[in-house]
Amino acid sequence: MLGRSCLTFVLLAAAVTCAVAQNAPPWTEDCRKSTYPPSGPTYRGAVPWYTINLDLPPYKRWHELMTDKAPAIRIMVNSLKNVVNAFVPSGKLMQIVDQKLPGLLGNFPGPFEEEMKGIAAVTNIPLGEIITFNIFYEFFTICTSIITEDKEGHLLHARNMDFGIFLGWNVNNNTWTITEELKPLTVNLDFQRNNKTVFKASSFAGYVGMVTGFKPGLLSLTLNERFSINGGYLGILEWLLGKKDAMWIGFITRLVLENSTSYEEAKNILTKTKIMAPAYFILGGNQSGEGCVITRDRKESLDVYELDPKQGRWYLVETNYDRWKNPLFLDDRRTPTKMCLNRTSQENVSIATLYDILSTKPVLNKLTVFTTLMDVTKGQYETYLRDCPDPCIGW
Ligand SMILES: *[C@@H]1O[C@H](CO)[C@@H](O)[C@H](O)[C@H]1NC(C)=O
Ligand SMILES: *[C@@H]1O[C@H](CO)[C@@H](O)[C@H](O)[C@H]1NC(C)=O
Ligand SMILES: *[C@@H]1O[C@H](CO)[C@@H](O)[C@H](O)[C@H]1NC(C)=O
Ligand SMILES: *[C@@H]1O[C@H](CO)[C@@H](O)[C@H](O)[C@H]1NC(C)=O
Ligand SMILES: *[C@@H]1O[C@H](CO)[C@@H](O)[C@H](O)[C@H]1NC(C)=O
Ligand SMILES: *[C@@H]1O[C@H](CO)[C@@H](O)[C@H](O)[C@H]1NC(C)=O
Repeated sequence: MLGRSCLTFVLLAAAVTCAVAQNAPPWTEDCRKSTYPPSGPTYRGAVPWYTINLDLPPYKRWHELMTDKAPAIRIMVNSLKNVVNAFVPSGKLMQIVDQKLPGLLGNFPGPFEEEMKGIAAVTNIPLGEIITFNIFYEFFTICTSIITEDKEGHLLHARNMDFGIFLGWNVNNNTWTITEELKPLTVNLDFQRNNKTVFKASSFAGYVGMVTGFKPGLLSLTLNERFSINGGYLGILEWLLGKKDAMWIGFITRLVLENSTSYEEAKNILTKTKIMAPAYFILGGNQSGEGCVITRDRKESLDVYELDPKQGRWYLVETNYDRWKNPLFLDDRRTPTKMCLNRTSQENVSIATLYDILSTKPVLNKLTVFTTLMDVTKGQYETYLRDCPDPCIGW
């Protein structure tokens, strides 16, 4: 769809640039060192924390956060509208979204319907646009996720969140409009029941699914988009036609973070549930060997690849390609990530060295919105906004 055709376009543009520049591409660099804790001119300060009280009715949960973030969400939604109106100029499509989409899509399961209605009410944005905003996130997350295990069997899980709509470029400072507009929407969320943390997550205000988070002491989970011909738009089509047996991918990861009680249970749900769009689930547990990348088709799991420290497999890396296939030549974030992990070595892997790796171009790129670092057993959870100073590749 939209994102994919644009992806192709940017890749072609980059191919031309690449052919012109004969030497090593300027956007690659040697593995970074000593970047943690972040500081200096590109450091934007800590991402704010908000508590989401699960004891409140879903309609009311997001009230406080949305009151703070409503102006930033309106800016973002307007940019998305401009994108849509650029493709379908009459404004007709947005009219359909506002007036017909909620009815067309019908009820969302669990708390999601009421939560989105509550968000629409507080921000004064039509429900159809809030739903569209939530669906957008299901399609355009390009990311790098890493799980590692050190010599003592201690697990760490980290990710870069790259958000990929290749439209709208700020010529004044060489940044993507949407990527920049997502930065003020980035929040850390502490979901609580009975005033106790159930899970923590990093997300964009207004999105009710969760694609980056952990349950302290128990498990960590990130979701990366998987491009496939049998893609998510088929899932949406089925949904519109009334076949509603599949889960939205950001909703299933939220469900696991909210309600799963063990690594094994989470793995089972993420492997077996029918989902709307292809995806990679990167799941970590709380002890040695508990880490896997689940490669999903809409209907079934194609591959579950696990840590195996006894065989020397002390890390797993997932970007947006099946592990048995080569990444797209111009979008190879996998090889530099692995190279830097190899160079770091199992004995020196830590929150700090993972941050170094996720700060190395092109793992860090123009679409990177934030970096999250998670230590499940220590209960440590950190998220940092990112900028990628020039020269820096677009994804
Ligand atoms: C780039 O410019 C845009 C639009 O003026 C602004 O919103 C954004 O924060 C800037 N980004 C950086 C990294 O300077
Ligand atoms: C949670 O804490 C607040 C004040 O900190 C208190 O008023 C409230 O009763 C507590 N709720 C529960 C369910 O314990
Ligand atoms: C988690 O379980 C509770 C209790 O069964 C349920 O009310 C809630 O909707 C579930 N959460 C999600 C995200 O489905
Ligand atoms: C690790 O997770 C299991 C469930 O998978 C749980 O039973 C156990 O208590 C957890 N261990 C620690 C140390 O929290
Ligand atoms: C990393 O190390 C492993 C094991 O030695 C090796 O198989 C792999 O090719 C290395 N990868 C890179 C990108 O250096
Ligand atoms: C690991 O860190 C120690 C202490 O900083 C250093 O001496 C050692 O060379 C590092 N090992 C590797 C393989 O980088």
